[in-house]
Amino acid sequence: MLTMSIIAPPTNITDFRTQLRHLVDEHNAIILAHNYQPAWIKEVADVTGDSLYLSQRARETDATTIVFCGVRFMAETAKILSPEKHVLLPADDAECSLADSITETDLIEWKQRYPDAVVVAYVNTSAAVKAMADVCCTSANAVEIVASIPEDREVLFLPDQFLGAYVQRMTGHPGMHIWMGECHVHADISPQHLAEKMDEDPSASLMIHPECGCTTPALYQLAETGDKTTRQRIRILSTNQMIEEAKRSTANHILVATEIGIMNDLTTANPMVHFEAVNPRARCPYMNRITPERLIEVLQLQTGEVFVDGATATKARLAVERMVDPELRTWAH
Ligand code: 13P
Ligand code: SF4
Repeated sequence: MLTMSIIAPPTNITDFRTQLRHLVDEHNAIILAHNYQPAWIKEVADVTGDSLYLSQRARETDATTIVFCGVRFMAETAKILSPEKHVLLPADDAECSLADSITETDLIEWKQRYPDAVVVAYVNTSAAVKAMADVCCTSANAVEIVASIPEDREVLFLPDQFLGAYVQRMTGHPGMHIWMGECHVHADISPQHLAEKMDEDPSASLMIHPECGCTTPALYQLAETGDKTTRQRIRILSTNQMIEEAKRSTANHILVATEIGIMNDLTTANPMVHFEAVNPRARCPYMNRITPERLIEVLQLQTGEVFVDGATATKARLAVERMVDPELRTWAH
């Protein structure tokens, strides 16, 4: 059973920021924070964003230490891209139920059944699983990546079933096999939750993260409607794409299906819109593990360092590089 307690923010955010900035400068560090992190962390971070954007920034930064306010697979991805950097995770129990839904052994067995398939691993996977993948993807580029794989190739898409179904529908790729994993937070944003909220306001617009359990009915609704305005009201998006969409939206009311840590970013992006969570209890316990004390401590004492063993990292690097660099995407047998 996962316990969920809300971490108290620092009592004085100005003093906290001053202390943190001092340590950041002293250690030539950068603080990256995922959009699902609590508001007080995003407020003191150098960069906030979705999985793809943070991976790109981790790869490009001149800082020698990366403090990753997110979960383990994100910190490991940064380490794989930048093995010479110190990557610190301020919560050693920040795992991910989706990453846990496929193991290295599962993938070895699956690959034996489809030895010529291109393995597309969502970035929410362990380093060992990434090491067996041909390419990694995020919610922001999964469609683009699968669409670039020739139709005569089989594709093993893992581990998220809802994202997989969405990608299959958008690309029409005939060779896709989809692993039946899920994120317990997004799976619990269900078709029932969506239907209830839409009954309350049938004219509301929708922003849906493709990991959600309600993605498939939203896609059916999209497919059924011939009306352009209705189609424009339903958007399947990564978290950065949601923030960008929020900035330019002229809607009055937007129902948001994803982890609720992003809600404050959406309101900041466009205070004129009423953003409402489809499931207001959709909070990820792993994204809410960092305390102010732990954030200070990892920098001060250089603890919480994330390591990926050399052989695994070397094997995983091409798959992760292909995720951030389209030019590396070639699919020879
Ligand atoms: P993004 O791809 O928008 O970062 O969301 C993925 C996610 O669920 C991170 O846990
Ligand atoms: Fe993993 Fe889901 Fe939490 Fe994202 S929201 S870190 S996919 S458990």
